[in-house]
Amino acid sequence: MKATAKAHTNIALIKYWGKRDEQLFLPTNSSLSVTLDKFYTETSVHFSPDFHADRFILNDQQADPKEMEKITTFLDRIRNLSGKSLYATIDSKNYVPTAAGFASSASGFAALAAAATKAIGLDVDYRQLSQIARQGSGSASRSIYGGYVEWQKGEKADGSDCYALPIISEQDWDIRVLSVEVTTKAKKVLSREGMKRTVETSPFYSGWLEAVEKDLITARDAIKEKDFEKLGHVVEANALKMHATTLGANPPFMYWQSATVEVMQEVEELRAAGIEAYFTIDAGPNVKVLCQPKDEHAVRDKLSLLTVVREIHHCRPGPGITYLPIEK
Ligand code: PMV
Repeated sequence: MKATAKAHTNIALIKYWGKRDEQLFLPTNSSLSVTLDKFYTETSVHFSPDFHADRFILNDQQADPKEMEKITTFLDRIRNLSGKSLYATIDSKNYVPTAAGFASSASGFAALAAAATKAIGLDVDYRQLSQIARQGSGSASRSIYGGYVEWQKGEKADGSDCYALPIISEQDWDIRVLSVEVTTKAKKVLSREGMKRTVETSPFYSGWLEAVEKDLITARDAIKEKDFEKLGHVVEANALKMHATTLGANPPFMYWQSATVEVMQEVEELRAAGIEAYFTIDAGPNVKVLCQPKDEHAVRDKLSLLTVVREIHHCRPGPGITYLPIEK
């Protein structure tokens, strides 16, 4: 009862920001992302009647109790679905530079969902896998698929209509996402806590909900039309709206640092100079810059001149989950 799976991380182009059900990880809004080729997680799961507890080894180290609890809760859902009460040993390796501001939770829970369901003998399709992955980390639901992916919020209280679906594949449209790592000081508010506080206290949250559904339609159309300018504009505007909600929370919080704003302003300058580049930012200070392949080097050259920029990682649209041969 062993299986190994690999999943890539994704960057949200239209953000998931807020839950309508914390237990089932049901979002208040639909979101849209592109899976990235550069960063991924590889996870092996082994269920056995010989084990007396779950074990989780992350990057060759025993996971801390907080991480362990999240994993056990997640495995419990899979054990319930399969009707088997076996413990597991999980060996996971993250090829995601966490400092680069990519949440390894998306690739992490997508890989774990794929490996654990296979190891325990559950026959699930990608839609069901996205629903399972979602219950580890919302954004993980989108990492099941490659390319451009939409996560539908659904309406039902049991989450049965809440899953991710592919829009077009990674081969269908080549763009670049430059992950711009900046020097940081502050500790961040975790996305889970940030969303909760925003939903509960920010008067701007209702404005977010009104705008995000329209932004999603525009982004989906832009992807289908392969209209880069249209996509870039709505992606950047949507990220700004998400971050605006945090300023209205109580207590207020902000993911940006001065370095973040410097990069954002440089992207604006690139556009003023005729180069199409657009930024987006998740729950942290680093910036992801979208551009077309022909402009990749010009964008990198300009951004790397900023003293606050530590490293730039070049990503392309990447694949969905894959199963790997089991090591003997
Ligand atoms: O899935 P989580 O809990 O890592 O939350 C992700 C939240 C954002 O990255 C800010 C937006 C998104 O859709 O990925």
